[in-house]
Amino acid sequence: VIKVVALCGSLRTGSFNRGLIRAAMEIAKSINGLEIEYVDISPLPFLNTDLEVNGTYPEVVESFRLKIRVADSVLFASPEYNYSVSGPLKNAIDWASRPPNVWADKAAAVVSASGGSRGQRSQYHLRQIGVFLDLHFINKPEFFLNAHQTPSKFDSDRNLIDDSTKESLKQVLLSLYAFMLRLKGKRD
Ligand code: FNR
Repeated sequence: VIKVVALCGSLRTGSFNRGLIRAAMEIAKSINGLEIEYVDISPLPFLNTDLEVNGTYPEVVESFRLKIRVADSVLFASPEYNYSVSGPLKNAIDWASRPPNVWADKAAAVVSASGGSRGQRSQYHLRQIGVFLDLHFINKPEFFLNAHQTPSKFDSDRNLIDDSTKESLKQVLLSLYAFMLRLKGKRD
């Protein structure tokens, strides 16, 4: 089984990006051998290297780092905040980058539900962060969504209800899956 960890850059209850992750988890059930686990980044403290004692990290940080370490791949869903990824997501990325960097050699994909920009700038920022972390993003297909357009592609519980958007999301997962197998072959 190929394990994907899904991280959401938005912490709010009514998050569209969280809705995308729920949809991805549902779609993954129809892809043989692909498993997505949602990991909540909200319990992580703000990064402060004073919290590192003799190379160990606070318990919530250790357990977050372990989730990333044992996964084959990462699916990011983040809103764009001021042309970049959200602060909470950057914080989570930074914690898991502390030695040893647990992002290294993993496959990744990014999707975004955002305002008018549809998150494009934030996705390219995230890809840039991945360069330093040795986190390897699939190039295509790209997935950008304007969460505020009407009619809404989400219901009032923020579940994705639009079939063509679900199909686009599925194509992202299939591309990630194929890329992950190639990377895994290199690692094993
Ligand atoms: C935003 N939003 C936003 N949208 C965008 O397309 N480009 C941007 O630069 C910003 N900047 C920004 C900054 C801050 C501080 C907030 C709170 C919001 C809008 C935001 O991406 C949008 O509301 C998303 O729908 C929020 O995602 P969730 O919470 O629904 O997942």
